[in-house]
Amino acid sequence: QHCFTKSPDGFLYCEDTKVQHIMEKVEKRPFYLYSKPQITRNVEAYKEALEGLKNSIIGYAIKANNNLKILQHLRKLGCGAVLVSGNELKLALHAGFDPTKCIFNGNGKILEDLILAAQEGVFVNVDSEFDLENIVTAAKVAGRKVNVLLRINPDVDPQVHPYVATGNKNSKFGIRNEKLQWFLDAVKAHPNELKLVGAHCHLGSTITKVDIFRDAAVLMVNYIDEIRAQGFEVDYLNIGGGLGIDYYHSGAVLPTPRDLIDTVRELVLSRNLNLVIEPGRSLIANTCCLVNRVTGVKTNGTKNFIVIDGSMAELIRPSLYDAYQHIELVSPTPPDAEVSTFDVVGPVCESADFLGKERELPTPAKGTGLVVHDAGAYCMSMASTYNLKMRPPEYWVEEDGSVTKIRHGETFEDHIRFFEGL
Ligand code: LLP
Repeated sequence: QHCFTKSPDGFLYCEDTKVQHIMEKVEKRPFYLYSKPQITRNVEAYKEALEGLKNSIIGYAIKANNNLKILQHLRKLGCGAVLVSGNELKLALHAGFDPTKCIFNGNGKILEDLILAAQEGVFVNVDSEFDLENIVTAAKVAGRKVNVLLRINPDVDPQVHPYVATGNKNSKFGIRNEKLQWFLDAVKAHPNELKLVGAHCHLGSTITKVDIFRDAAVLMVNYIDEIRAQGFEVDYLNIGGGLGIDYYHSGAVLPTPRDLIDTVRELVLSRNLNLVIEPGRSLIANTCCLVNRVTGVKTNGTKNFIVIDGSMAELIRPSLYDAYQHIELVSPTPPDAEVSTFDVVGPVCESADFLGKERELPTPAKGTGLVVHDAGAYCMSMASTYNLKMRPPEYWVEEDGSVTKIRHGETFEDHIRFFEGL
């Protein structure tokens, strides 16, 4: 069951609520629209997949979407959180996440943030020699031993866009296995500051083949065997996030959370490990659309354009990664409306400002609603205020069909506030 469906009469629904009706009720500007029940269903799919694996942790990658209401909902459903900055850590604590289900990741964690992580007792992934030194210092300042995992860079090709590949041998993330012994010796040298509890890897994002996770997990349990052979009691295998979704709406059968977990299940059980996963996209992307309005239609040279009020400021993935996100109109067009090939573009002063290229769509009237699908992950969290577009408001449809605002849209006044008193 998926939250966004087209009725036979051509209207788009979010669960049982007509998107057109929502557009009529809310502010006239682009907005993000989520389905709360879909978020629940996505988490349940992971929970069911993890059944039989004791002490496993779903560490939701907050970078994908940091809406506080969504975080609180995910926390209530039992998720932990994966953090990549001090502010994400503070937000996770604010949202009430259990620190023992939180993992602090990153290749450039600064001392101040590591001290907070040490005080709060979250897991910390060790990313480099200097990172280890900083974690030791943080533990001393906090007066608390830190539970650490070694982020090992397993050099498995995730077969994705280079910008979202992270586990290759020349990547800036993690440590290479040649250096494993150095890190084990360093941990041994700091028994009062560090407790090594596991190993972590993250291969990349938008991965659509579970064999890739399996290959990495095989390497990772071998490293864990090596680490255990030196007397460390490590219990956690963290295989990161990265599961892709069907952005093309092509009906292609993509691996599910169950496929992902099943491919590593035996390995995890054979070593009696606690499995940690760090999903972002596969938990949240398909729960949301960016809802826009058509400003007008124009033609230049051989190109037809649908110009909408949303842009690369609200949603940058197409501009940044040439990413495809499915686009459709929220209401039916007259049967005689001409279908053409359009680039769907925003009002931002850049030719990189497009939401979709070469889409077959019926020519929409001014004011028609147009949605960009699968906008729950890395869309609002990567939004900017370029051209003073101001970040959009967010709403969700609740279980009972009512629509609730879950974040205010930013306004011009918010911008002026940064200069108050200067
Ligand atoms: N864990 C770590 C250590 C990560 O670096 C990431 C994402 C995740 C988990 C979550 O990965 P996911 O399950 O969401 O694939 N902005 C890009 C994606 C960047 C992903 C960065 N790391 C995009 O819009 O496609």
